[in-house]
Amino acid sequence: MKYRLLHAPSYDPTPIAAALAAERVEVRRVSMPGELAVATVPTALILDAESRNRFPGSALTAFVDQGGAVLALGAPGEADVPAALPAELVSAFLPAAHGPRQLLVALRTAYRESLARADGTRARVEAANRTRELGELTRIGMALSTERSLNTLLELILSQARALTDADAGSLYLTERPDDAPRQLRFKLAQNFSRPEIPFIEFTIPFDKTSIAGTVASTGEPLVLDDAYQLPADVEYSINRSFDEKYGYRTKSILAIPMSDHKDQVIGVLQLINRKVAYQLRLSTPADFASSVVSFPPRTVELVSALAGQAAVAIENSELYESIERLFEGFVNAAVIAIEQRDPTTFGHSGRVASMTVGLAQTVDRAGDGAYRQVSFSPQEMRELRYAGLLHDFGKVGVREQVLVKAKKLYAPDLSLVRQRHAFIRRTVERDFERQRADFLERNGREGYDAFRAELRAEQDRRLVDLDRFMNLVLDSNEPTLLPEGSFEELMRFSERTYDDLDGRSQPFLTDDEMRFLTIRKGSLDEQERLEIESHVSHTYQFLLKIPWTKELQNVPSIAYGHHEKLNGRGYPRKVTGTQIPIQTRMMTIADIFDALTASDRPYKRAVPVPRALDIMAEEVKDGMLDAELFRLFTEGKAFEKVRQE
Ligand SMILES: [Fe+2]
Ligand SMILES: [Fe+2]
Repeated sequence: MKYRLLHAPSYDPTPIAAALAAERVEVRRVSMPGELAVATVPTALILDAESRNRFPGSALTAFVDQGGAVLALGAPGEADVPAALPAELVSAFLPAAHGPRQLLVALRTAYRESLARADGTRARVEAANRTRELGELTRIGMALSTERSLNTLLELILSQARALTDADAGSLYLTERPDDAPRQLRFKLAQNFSRPEIPFIEFTIPFDKTSIAGTVASTGEPLVLDDAYQLPADVEYSINRSFDEKYGYRTKSILAIPMSDHKDQVIGVLQLINRKVAYQLRLSTPADFASSVVSFPPRTVELVSALAGQAAVAIENSELYESIERLFEGFVNAAVIAIEQRDPTTFGHSGRVASMTVGLAQTVDRAGDGAYRQVSFSPQEMRELRYAGLLHDFGKVGVREQVLVKAKKLYAPDLSLVRQRHAFIRRTVERDFERQRADFLERNGREGYDAFRAELRAEQDRRLVDLDRFMNLVLDSNEPTLLPEGSFEELMRFSERTYDDLDGRSQPFLTDDEMRFLTIRKGSLDEQERLEIESHVSHTYQFLLKIPWTKELQNVPSIAYGHHEKLNGRGYPRKVTGTQIPIQTRMMTIADIFDALTASDRPYKRAVPVPRALDIMAEEVKDGMLDAELFRLFTEGKAFEKVRQE
């Protein structure tokens, strides 16, 4: 039929029935306002005078807006369009007395108007669709360009392509080029709206024409299938129905589009399956697949091709970004190895501090109460924290190695000098004994010799014991532990004593320098050495400042800079307090101290058991050095347990 005519029951179209049939007009009786629908063919309504009340103005307006035309008939004696009938809705008006040919002419006018109106409506809808699609593409493009994680990006690409085309399912393949092997396609992702529970298994397929994705990848051309079970005779690919059979699915319409990079290399394939009449429809029964799945029209090919272009750029960017990250990660690890090779005693320290700090940050992130319940860390901030942790002690490369690894108060060569001196003095005492003994014999012969010798021997033994006391005192003082009361005074007395060297010159038992080291109150470092060790923080900061960090990582230098500061200003190097120390740094300080206490590989410090370490740290919290709330979360979150087991 070419036209449709609607009329109310009160109107009888019989007089013109033959003429209407000749013009291929389908006649339909309507009695409710809701039945006033415009068909795909030009549609007119004959509105006789009796039916005016049947169809309210709003129903007529909607009908006309959809492209319908109204032909109004007058009541007997009514010569003009009545005031109650809105003239703008009426295409033609015939008085009650009219001939059939007059009616047909008026109808023809109404159909012409309906046609023009429908065209206009279609054009408007089309234009609105295009605008919407363009908006969609722009929105998708923006979303794709800001996503850095490859997996999230792929999910986004596929779900957006499905939404754009009302596709029920879809898969995404990425091109791989293994070393020295031919290209292949990796099945990277699948989505299925109706069957979200279907498990996904990654696998690869050849980059050739044995599959749909392979065909699209090797030709670089889109592929559209109305029914995957009815393939054209001349194709090389086939469809494996085992998936459908296993999960009770029915793959029907398919649209596969290549994703090409800026060099026109196919980097992947986007495959959309089963376009539906409505996106939210769930397909379950065979009838659903038969009635609700439709073909992908040419417009969807254009749209998905545009999307695929954007997707390819986004994937390339994301891969580039990941490779830069890998590069930097590699560099950071090399830097950590460089520090730990210079100072093997702290092996693993940087990695453990990084892990524990991030672990504590995760605890803070989860915390539902306490001062930091509002604080959370984004994945980028976690990465920033990890880098700061890994590199916090990098400045140790600027500290002299002997100072870095100094375990005792005297450096080893210095101690061996004292040992040699002790041996020399000892040997001198023995020589004196022999010499005095010989002198006596020479002068007096054997008479009285035994008594003299016994006395001399006693004197020698006393001097040797005294010398050994000296050496033992040096060895004891050399330890970095605290000495018993009075030891320093005794050592001082020894240092004031002298012996004669080979040239007969008087020399002190201990030089001023040796005394300075041996009388260090605590630890193994003197003031100058301590400052040198402490300078590693500033070296770290200066080093990190030289790296052109990205915006997300820009706080790495400042986080690491404060790792030896204390909340009460007793730290170093800047002696800043409280709020001047960022929370990231406070967390790192806790992890750093904990690891320094519990590390078992420091020769100058015995490893402290975990409970004892936590007690020591609790004291520091009481003294206002460490953040109490963070320490509570550190103890409760037990991030250290996992790290120490690793
Ligand atoms: Fe440090
Ligand atoms: Fe450290």
